[in-house]
Amino acid sequence: MIPFHVPYRAARELEYIQELIASSSQKSGNGIFYSRCQQFVQTAFQFENTIFTNSCTDALELAALLLDIKPGDEVILPSYTFVSTANAFLLRGAKLIFCDSQVNNPNIDISLIPSLISEKTKAVVVVHYGGRSCDMELLMELSNQNGFIVVEDAAQCIGAKYSNDLTSTFIGTRAHLSAFSFHDTKNLHCGEGGLLIINDEQFVNRAEIIKDKGTNRGQFNRGEIDKYTWVDIGSSYLPGEYNMAVLLAQLQEWEIITSARQEFWNLYNGIFGSLNDYLPPQSAGNGHNYYLTFKSANQRDDFANRMKQKGIQTAFHYQPLHASIMAKSLGIQPQLLNADKFGNGLLRFPLYPHLSENEVHYIAESAFDCLHRLNS
Ligand SMILES: Cc1ncc(COP(=O)(O)O)c(C=O)c1O
Repeated sequence: MIPFHVPYRAARELEYIQELIASSSQKSGNGIFYSRCQQFVQTAFQFENTIFTNSCTDALELAALLLDIKPGDEVILPSYTFVSTANAFLLRGAKLIFCDSQVNNPNIDISLIPSLISEKTKAVVVVHYGGRSCDMELLMELSNQNGFIVVEDAAQCIGAKYSNDLTSTFIGTRAHLSAFSFHDTKNLHCGEGGLLIINDEQFVNRAEIIKDKGTNRGQFNRGEIDKYTWVDIGSSYLPGEYNMAVLLAQLQEWEIITSARQEFWNLYNGIFGSLNDYLPPQSAGNGHNYYLTFKSANQRDDFANRMKQKGIQTAFHYQPLHASIMAKSLGIQPQLLNADKFGNGLLRFPLYPHLSENEVHYIAESAFDCLHRLNS
């Protein structure tokens, strides 16, 4: 069976873990590997103010704490996303306002946002599905006009840029706050891991305090104060050094990983591009995923079963949040037909550096055969 996903294995993971075990340096968070990861993402992606966390879920929860979300504040977010995008803000008491996807793209339809804004709107959260960016220029313009904070759920976006223009900046540099995932399903991983990037100065100091469990320990560590104490709310989002050691090894290979994924993405798209009305151009994406969108869940599941019989595992993706049991219990069930379409129809193909070119060709040939049988 060709699995849907195989987590990437970077060459220096073991070496760094051994280095950490052998050294006398701390194994808890904020150690040498944490600093090296911070330096790496600053140099490679121009991420200036960074807080590594144990997951993207953590990073989003930290963002919600920073925004000081209070019961009654409204947060606009896509329905076609993972539950963490919603939970992070719901946990603080926010009222969730689900927004539809675009007709031909799972990303949030930014043209609908003005109709959802009210005087209670505190934040808009966007997801760049599969590492392909939303129109951030338009969104930041809306933010400037209306005064809401923009949070990017960039869980799948490490190494991706904002637009087709390769001189564009990396995703993670334009929103007020950006959250990334290093879960083992992502391009780079350390099992479970995450990152919050703070691009708005007003949040920088408090982010460190919340990350340090509500204490001013960061200032103490830098010798700015002679003892540290409890100064604010906070939590335990800090990853240990073992995870950071593995992440550093992965980060150091980000270009190899990204270009291998982009090559397979281009191979798939060379074959399926003309059939694929619902996949936006790769732009300066990171080859995170490749999918087809079927007319119905039945047709998709039939196709997936046929692929399985040929030894190929495929995977559908998010179940739109507006149609979930939780949304029903919260009394928020708008009609969002495009999100439904991607929830029912989208199916992802295997795409990771450990695939061989022959396997990609076999997957593509098999997919053509299965598509033909579906239609006949
Ligand atoms: C859009 C999105 N946000 C958040 C997450 C949660 O990431 P993590 O598992 O690192 O918490 C995921 C997980 O895949 C995701 O797809």
